[in-house]
Amino acid sequence: MEPFSTTESQAGASQEWAKSPSPDNIIILAQDLWKTYDMEAIQVNALCGVTFSIVRGEYVAIMGPSGSGKSTLMNLIGCLDRPTSGAVIVQSRNLAEMTPLELARYRRQTVGMVFQAFNLLPRMTLEENVELPMRLAEVSRPERAARVREALERVHLEKRLTHRPGELSGGEQQRASLARALVNRPQILLADEPTGNLDSSTSDEILHLLREINQSLGVTMVMVTHERRLAEQFADRIAVMSDGKLTSDGAEA
Ligand SMILES: Nc1ncnc2c1ncn2[C@@H]1O[C@H](COP(=O)(O)OP(=O)(O)OP(=O)(O)O)[C@@H](O)[C@H]1O
Ligand SMILES: [Mg+2]
Repeated sequence: MEPFSTTESQAGASQEWAKSPSPDNIIILAQDLWKTYDMEAIQVNALCGVTFSIVRGEYVAIMGPSGSGKSTLMNLIGCLDRPTSGAVIVQSRNLAEMTPLELARYRRQTVGMVFQAFNLLPRMTLEENVELPMRLAEVSRPERAARVREALERVHLEKRLTHRPGELSGGEQQRASLARALVNRPQILLADEPTGNLDSSTSDEILHLLREINQSLGVTMVMVTHERRLAEQFADRIAVMSDGKLTSDGAEA
């Protein structure tokens, strides 16, 4: 079976090269991002001018108090939402300038997302849950079956193909959602509190897996977490948000 392929730009690039912060290596660039929610009586400024860049192949943790704008930033990078002003540029493309078709491809193939809630469909088996994103992409049936197996092997769930989410532990469910996020071979994985619902040893296991995926496939990892211990152990750098602003990008001075 063909292993998870790396993209052309990742192939042959050593991790050292991949992480040097030259403009050519920046995969995600957030430029002066503002996000304002208009509520009935008030406006909520969820992001107030965030500028942030991430290099291809990096593993970045984002920390900060509840309500500081971490999920808002992740949703803008994943293009689940649009900024009030500012730009998100991924692989040199401004998301705001993409056609609907390009955006659909971007959401399906360039980024994978995992969340605190595993968001698996309860009536479907594990195999069907993981296959789902590929039904929307242009992937043939035999190729889909091979990729499901490969993604589930990667998260060590190949023996649970016919289980439904309710027949899995929390850690297994998160591993399944990780397999689902990876099955279209994204270059970027966005993980918003992926261990928020898990105990500490299961959290370690999930983050080991994320690190393995980051290192072996070169997938750029952006993870929100409240757990400093995990961020320090696994991430290349820790960015910190407060009141809608980036107070530290975690890069060494
Ligand atoms: N859809 C929305 N409508 C109005 N306000 C929102 C909306 N989504 C988020 N906010 C507000 O924007 C701010 C930032 O929210 P966000 O979810 O980004 O915080 P967070 O840092 O992810 O917090 P947590 O750690 O609790 O997940 C909060 O004050 C929140 O109440
Ligand atoms: Mg959040």
